[in-house]
Amino acid sequence: MEIDDINTIAVLGAGNMGHGIAEVAAIAGYDVNLRDIKDEFVQNGYEQIEWSLDKLAEKDQLTDEEADAALDRVTPLVDFEEAVADADFVIEAVPEKMDIKKDVYGELEEYASDEAVFATNTSSLSVTELSEVTERPERFCGMHFFNPPVRMQLVEVISGEHTDDEVLDLTEDLAEEMGKTPVRVRKDSPGFIVNRVLVPLMNEAAWMVESGDYTVEQVDSSTKFDMGLPMGSFELADQVGIDVGYHVLEYMNEVLGEAYEPCPLLVEKVEDEKLGKKTGEGFYDYEDGGADIPT
Ligand code: 3HC
Repeated sequence: MEIDDINTIAVLGAGNMGHGIAEVAAIAGYDVNLRDIKDEFVQNGYEQIEWSLDKLAEKDQLTDEEADAALDRVTPLVDFEEAVADADFVIEAVPEKMDIKKDVYGELEEYASDEAVFATNTSSLSVTELSEVTERPERFCGMHFFNPPVRMQLVEVISGEHTDDEVLDLTEDLAEEMGKTPVRVRKDSPGFIVNRVLVPLMNEAAWMVESGDYTVEQVDSSTKFDMGLPMGSFELADQVGIDVGYHVLEYMNEVLGEAYEPCPLLVEKVEDEKLGKKTGEGFYDYEDGGADIPT
């Protein structure tokens, strides 16, 4: 398959990443089927795309016509078969749990066309293991976007053990068509490149607060203003979803060892469903204006 053969992209999962990836694909001119398991989830994702496109138009990053046309290219769906049957390329962005993803690939294999390429937006899980659930491990790779996809430039294109080079080339071309900069990740190891560095940073920040020696604001003030990161560690955890970081750590802990043990502070937030911006509260309270970090 060549890049010009890709017309319709199915995005599975309409959460934080799924809706953002669907938006980026629609802005690039692709027809996008955005699918989630409940109408409520898919509608919420669609409304977030609408909100984001309005913001981009407000800031003259898109014209009103371009924003409307992008929204028109997105079809929100719950029916799995309808979402994937005519897709040339499928990007899966369902929760970061091996079992959930494997179930989705089982169903996907049943309904997708034989030619379609499957790409997982996993943050950490083994691309090889996921690919082996399907009958097309050579047409399967990782395509890892960053949050928020519409603003973040990088896409990691990850090779599983069985991935064909042509599929990696095609996926990189697609990332470029979407205005992104792909980086090829040849080693399919937990967290790939960025999350292998970033998620332990968030965990370490949490352990520092857990120790009682520092506050969330003190750690964020240092990471943001002294280290020059665009967001403090806790702000970033709230942005990506504390549950996402936690699941990445859980997997790194299982595969790479005890250095990656998730801090109890993260576990507590996940148990209390205080997951960050998406639930209105995480380390900061977004109903109350969000982070206010002292400099
Ligand atoms: N669409 C449109 N507009 C958006 C938006 C979106 N999805 N998200 C935020 N905005 C808007 C805000 O509402 C705000 O609008 P306002 O000015 O009208 O209030 C505006 O963008 C803020 O943009 P600015 O450019 O003024 O703000 P920043 O300079 O702070 O940039 C940022 C925002 C690009 C998110 C920047 O803070 C940043 O780069 N943060 C780091 C993000 C990051 O590292 N992400 C990767 C995390 S790791 C990951 O995702 C991997 C996963 O697997 C865990």
